[in-house]
Amino acid sequence: MKRILLTGGAGALGRQFLRLCPEGWRLRVMSRRARPAKIPESIEWVEGDLASGRGLESAVEAVQAIVHTATDPRSPEAVDLQGTRRLLEKARHVEHFIYPSIVGIDKIPFRYYRQKLAVEELVRQSGIPWTILRATQFHSLLDFFLGAAARLPGLMFLPAGFQFQPVDGKEMSALLARAVAGGPGGRLPDLAGPEVRRLEDLARVWLRARGLRKLLVPLPLPGAVARSFRRGDNTLPLVSGPGPTWEQWLALHGSPLRSVIQ
Ligand SMILES: NC(=O)c1ccc[n+]([C@@H]2O[C@H](COP(=O)([O-])OP(=O)(O)OC[C@H]3O[C@@H](n4cnc5c(N)ncnc54)[C@H](OP(=O)(O)O)[C@@H]3O)[C@@H](O)[C@H]2O)c1
Repeated sequence: MKRILLTGGAGALGRQFLRLCPEGWRLRVMSRRARPAKIPESIEWVEGDLASGRGLESAVEAVQAIVHTATDPRSPEAVDLQGTRRLLEKARHVEHFIYPSIVGIDKIPFRYYRQKLAVEELVRQSGIPWTILRATQFHSLLDFFLGAAARLPGLMFLPAGFQFQPVDGKEMSALLARAVAGGPGGRLPDLAGPEVRRLEDLARVWLRARGLRKLLVPLPLPGAVARSFRRGDNTLPLVSGPGPTWEQWLALHGSPLRSVIQ
């Protein structure tokens, strides 16, 4: 049986992929954490750290495909860029390297996005057959972001005019699983959610769904990154993608997502 290495298996995308792993493949997860007690026995577990290189050799041993979802937006140079370089160096024998990326990283001058763009190039130049799939922001990311913004009593500060086209992470993990089954596909068509919405609008719907009352305070942020998000460089306005709308997703996820791996 062929084996997939999934990096970042405890993350938003990784834990969706755990549930959708294509038939006929054995799954190995790499994480910095020790194996959780409740992980199914059929899943192999390897401890590894992209930032230091610890455990990478054991992680890639006898795998045919890698789905590389591990990321650290706070340390993208050390984890995303240098970490992926280390992983690719150990993975010369691998038949397929699959990399999830983000819509608009070539337009938005955000530090994390610059590193993701550089990682895409590393993957293309690696000599390992590859697939890259870019997506817009997940519903779960906006849910997390709005949860953090809602911590102040009574008020909710938000960047004014930012646009998003949230998509269900499940849609992306299903496409990643299909990519594993289908083999290297190069750059796949970008994945976007069903509709482009302003952040203030998403926040109003979120407050209602979570049963909260707060005064929204939009902040007009300066700078090129903020301009990009206001222009919607992170969206695909001509595409109405698959999956639930924001309202539908919130109705399905009344409480924050729980992970198979806590
Ligand atoms: N979230 C979105 O809206 C979105 C949209 C489009 C594309 N993407 C892309 O999809 C991918 C997954 O994103 P996500 O939202 O699922 O990320 P996430 O929830 O932040 O999860 C990232 C995972 O990376 C692992 N990780 C962090 N530092 C590591 C290190 N030094 N060594 C090994 N593993 C490390 C962590 O696992 P452990 O703690 O278990 O080690 C963590 O579970 C990323 O490439 C992201 O850019 C995300």
